[in-house]
Amino acid sequence: MAQAHSTDLKVVRTVADLRAATLGWRLAEEKIALVPTMGALHQGHITLVQRALEAADHVVVSIFVNPTQFGPTEDLDRYPRDEEGDLEKLRQLGVELVWAPDKEAMYPEGFSTAVTAGSAARGLETDFRPHFFGGVATVVAKLFNQVRPDFATFGEKDYQQLIVVTQLARDLDMGLEILPVTTIREPDGLALSSRNAYLSEAERAVAPNLNQVLNEVANAVVAGASVPHLKAAAEMRLLTLGFTKVDYIEVRDAATLAPFNLDHKRPGRVLGAAWLGKTRLIDNVAVEV
Ligand code: PAF
Repeated sequence: MAQAHSTDLKVVRTVADLRAATLGWRLAEEKIALVPTMGALHQGHITLVQRALEAADHVVVSIFVNPTQFGPTEDLDRYPRDEEGDLEKLRQLGVELVWAPDKEAMYPEGFSTAVTAGSAARGLETDFRPHFFGGVATVVAKLFNQVRPDFATFGEKDYQQLIVVTQLARDLDMGLEILPVTTIREPDGLALSSRNAYLSEAERAVAPNLNQVLNEVANAVVAGASVPHLKAAAEMRLLTLGFTKVDYIEVRDAATLAPFNLDHKRPGRVLGAAWLGKTRLIDNVAVEV
């Protein structure tokens, strides 16, 4: 169960130090939960940490802005970084260990192996960010091997990532349980994301409409409306509301991300990605059948 609140937070930056810091826990057969992050921690991450604290005796939070999951024209350089602020938040929560490798510790000279994500990575984000899940699958496999956790928490906010990682952990016998954590939202419905920091005041006012429109699609799917028609109407509506571009609105099977079929009577998920100026937002909502 949850460790006592502690201000004794250790930061390790090499695999050898990480192994040394976790060895005693492993020998004592105490449970470890990993919370993989790219830092710039917000309330959504805090919830991931709280879920991890509930599940295990010890929590390791990794902070690593993984370059291999960013495309050449994406926001790697402007991705928010605030290690001091992050460590303070984690200290307040009573986290014991932070794994914060630099790029050379994660991808040393000569590194040349890659993990290919499975069927859940087809379409959706991959159509617009083709490099993304290769980068995520490789770094997440490395994080699992480095920390060797019993649990890892992933947010439903990045729903396709959650399913890809769940598939990866199962297919590669990683020996851990993936714990999904519900998306945390602003009162107006906007899903918390580090990228919300990029939004101008005017863009921020438009942003919650993504969640609103996805919810409307989910309700219409349950009511039996035609999915292709709904997708087209939702894209038009987002553009009318002020989004500058819509990458996709899709309805998928919630467990496999295969195309959704109401007749299968399995839970679905509506997923969407849309742009406000230079900022790309993603969100998703459940289709309860
Ligand atoms: O969701 C994220 O922050 C990242 O994709 C992850 C899982 C930490 C891998 O870099």
